[in-house]
Amino acid sequence: MADVSKNLCAVILAAGAGSRLGYPNERGGKPMVEALGKPLLAYGLERLAGAGLRDVALVVNPVNQPVIEAFAGDGARWGLKISYVLQQKPLGIAHALSLCQDFSAGRHVLLLLVDNLFAANIDAAVAAYAEGQPEQAEVFLVKVANPQDYGVAVVANGQVERLVEKPQKFISDLAVIGLYFYPPDVYNFIPQLKPSARGELEITDVNSLFLQQGRLKCCELRGWWIDVGNAERLAEAERLLRG
Ligand code: G1P
Repeated sequence: MADVSKNLCAVILAAGAGSRLGYPNERGGKPMVEALGKPLLAYGLERLAGAGLRDVALVVNPVNQPVIEAFAGDGARWGLKISYVLQQKPLGIAHALSLCQDFSAGRHVLLLLVDNLFAANIDAAVAAYAEGQPEQAEVFLVKVANPQDYGVAVVANGQVERLVEKPQKFISDLAVIGLYFYPPDVYNFIPQLKPSARGELEITDVNSLFLQQGRLKCCELRGWWIDVGNAERLAEAERLLRG
């Protein structure tokens, strides 16, 4: 396998509370929600290790940090080297990423949201991105029945034309999933953002800035994808994981 870890590091956003799923931060929050008896975080770590990543930062919150550290430790169990980055307040995905600049140390970054489970094998996409040293950011798209619940991309001729976070009116059925690749200068974009109506720095706004500069690639993924946000979706994820 190509050594992707020289040019590419990974950030897993693992600071979300999972209270709706019975996992408040005291129990580790969303990353510790179990699907088929295994925490969501373990799925993410296995996937990254399988794709050849080595350096991974877990963005945690002050309450779930000890639980997450007790579970994942230094990452050696997965052949990974895990660092911990503390997000004091839930100020959004882009805010969480902004805290990882020192960790990234000039490398390209793969960002994964811990509650995103999907079937597609991303190893080739990771290798291509890491080896290509691209100027572009890359997002991954999946057709969904409920686009109003996600960031959504309008695509024509294989190019993203527009991105909207949780569109109230139908614009496209292509959801932008919680897996993103960024070049090292992503950190210059985040200070330009304003908090959204939900008071967060939105990753969709970061992606829109790359789009404005003609630097956003997209790739449609085949197979199932689930953002494990509630008990119904967790049950569906477990059904799909069973195969
Ligand atoms: C976040 C992003 C959204 C993306 C989704 C994927 O939504 O803001 O663009 O489609 O993750 O899971 P959130 O879960 O914060 O509502």
